[in-house]
Amino acid sequence: MIQNVGNHLRRGFASMFSSRTSRKSVSHPESGDASAMAEGEGYRNPTEVQMSQLVLPCHTNHRGELSIGQLLKWIDTTACLSAERHAGCPCVTASMDDIYFDHTISVGQVVNIKAKVNRAFNSSMEVGIQVVSEDLCSEKQWSVCKALATFVAHRELSKVKLKQVVPLTEEEKTEHGVAAERRRMRLVYTDTIKDLLAHYAIQDDLDKDCSNMVPAEKTRVESVELVLPPHANHQGNTFGGQIMAWMENVATIAASRLCHAHPTLKAIEMFHFRGPSQVGDRLVLKAIVNNAFKHSMEVGVCVEAYRQEAETQRRHINSAFMTFVVLDKDDQPQKLPWIRPQPGDGERRYREASARKKIRLDRKYLVSCKQAEMALSVPWDPSNQVYLSYYNVSSLKTLMAKDNWVLSVEISEVRLYILEEEFLSFHLEMVVNVDAAQVFQLLSDLSRRPEWDKHCRSVELVQQVDEDDAIYHVISPTLSGNTKPQDFVILASRRKPCDSGDPYVIALRSVTLPTHRETPEYQRGETLCSGFCLWREGDQSTKVSYYNQATPGFLNYVTTNVAGLSSEFYNTFKACESFLLDNRNDLAPSLQTL
Ligand code: COA
Ligand code: ADP
Repeated sequence: MIQNVGNHLRRGFASMFSSRTSRKSVSHPESGDASAMAEGEGYRNPTEVQMSQLVLPCHTNHRGELSIGQLLKWIDTTACLSAERHAGCPCVTASMDDIYFDHTISVGQVVNIKAKVNRAFNSSMEVGIQVVSEDLCSEKQWSVCKALATFVAHRELSKVKLKQVVPLTEEEKTEHGVAAERRRMRLVYTDTIKDLLAHYAIQDDLDKDCSNMVPAEKTRVESVELVLPPHANHQGNTFGGQIMAWMENVATIAASRLCHAHPTLKAIEMFHFRGPSQVGDRLVLKAIVNNAFKHSMEVGVCVEAYRQEAETQRRHINSAFMTFVVLDKDDQPQKLPWIRPQPGDGERRYREASARKKIRLDRKYLVSCKQAEMALSVPWDPSNQVYLSYYNVSSLKTLMAKDNWVLSVEISEVRLYILEEEFLSFHLEMVVNVDAAQVFQLLSDLSRRPEWDKHCRSVELVQQVDEDDAIYHVISPTLSGNTKPQDFVILASRRKPCDSGDPYVIALRSVTLPTHRETPEYQRGETLCSGFCLWREGDQSTKVSYYNQATPGFLNYVTTNVAGLSSEFYNTFKACESFLLDNRNDLAPSLQTL
């Protein structure tokens, strides 16, 4: 499923700027006139900003390709203008998520950048950026990269409270929902990485043959920049894109010193602008190759700012990690020399670079595997924990935001919708007279599910990962046609609303755990993407929706219900309602404040 979500997200992104003319929502309760209008011809997101630039020799590196530093400046400017269009006041770059560069851009080509605000929070906004290159002669186009940046709005005298973004199209709704989950991940990113690095027992290879190693010291770079008015906005704040360009410059020099060739930047890890910088600041940029792998290297860059009058008081502005490769004439990555780190900090960074490489690979695996190439469940591992729960929640939100749900059956106000796409999905809906926070508490404790769902015989909590994520072992009774009962290992990720328009979410997906491998006793079942979304309708009223992207094991259940051959879905949901009503007062004290 993860890979499927990855595909959905990528497809979502690819279509994020196109005027959509897709099928209109026929019967989904969320769809309205505005949405229908948005789906029509000529719709353009009001925050969308476009920039097109012809790549000239002055923008290129030694390989005659657009320098990534220049591209980052254009990306940052386009995204900032989109953020400011929404905010109506000046904005600064707070962070930039990981960027992977799929293509280089040659001199003479055109770069088209589009940016739009996916969601506004309090003073910050997530901006989605897409970069496409265009060859004017052949009319071919390539996707170069996608980026997500967070901008914070600033007003001189008061704290900004941004107006909400109202998503209209299906793609906007998906991005809007998922943006809240991405924000959650961003805010814990530094701690997550620190935690992972602290707990990783990296098998280092520091004692390998040192004869043909390059001492890391040889790659060290230090450079200073004076921030002048052209590097800053009209309020004198340095553009984030300008700082990123300076960082890329020193990182490229460090990388070149290792390989004695012109390296190509492949990826930049998520980074955060810790504090502002203004015109007149001196920025000291330091870079060094932290580790070299067979075909790629990690370069770390650190930026500090100081005022001339207080040179000793340096402010840490930013640190970033960039991955470079060296391409031969056929664009194949060349083998790189090994690096010998300096004892102390150098060796620590060497090990941490290995850990970050593993984390990056795990993450890439999560988003890029093709459906046919792997099992549906993905392994649970501390290094992919944050991303796995992110994809768990975002896949459910993506499914939820689909426009083409079709109402198939309705029995006494319990509705069954289906969605026919790559996978058949179904969605049940009812309104219960119980407060949303209570419903959330009761349904997110999976161990109580056997109390109302006869498809769950027993549920055991295997691991409480953190406050909001837990892994359960679920055993369901023998299904008709099977000889053995089924079991599932499920990651449940629950999320409270980010703001009043958001639902409570309980997302479920299969994972594999070494402690709970498949046994002959049970037939291992898998859930791709399922779970609950709960909307507060009133003080004591909640719309409960259950979503399920049907795996083969569920198909029979869905089709018999849709065909009217069974009213199982109704009975299950009614049992769920009774369970919620019976237990409406049985809240843990900590949840009274939800
Ligand atoms: N990624 C994304 N957003 C972040 C973030 C991160 N790593 N850290 C904080 N934020 C968001 C918060 O979520 C909050 O958003 P909200 O108001 O919508 O809830 C907003 O930034 C302000 O957070 P707050 O806790 O009040 O402030 P802070 O002390 O963490 O400061 C910045 C955050 C971004 C304002 C501050 O670090 C800063 O000024 N950085 C420099 C920005 C800049 O000048 N950039 C240009 C290049 S130097
Ligand atoms: P850390 O040392 O934990 O990696 P820092 O923010 O201090 O974090 O530095 C980020 C990266 O910047 C380092 O990994 C390193 O690659 C580079 N760097 C930091 N200090 C220097 C320095 N004095 N000289 C060269 N490069 C440096």
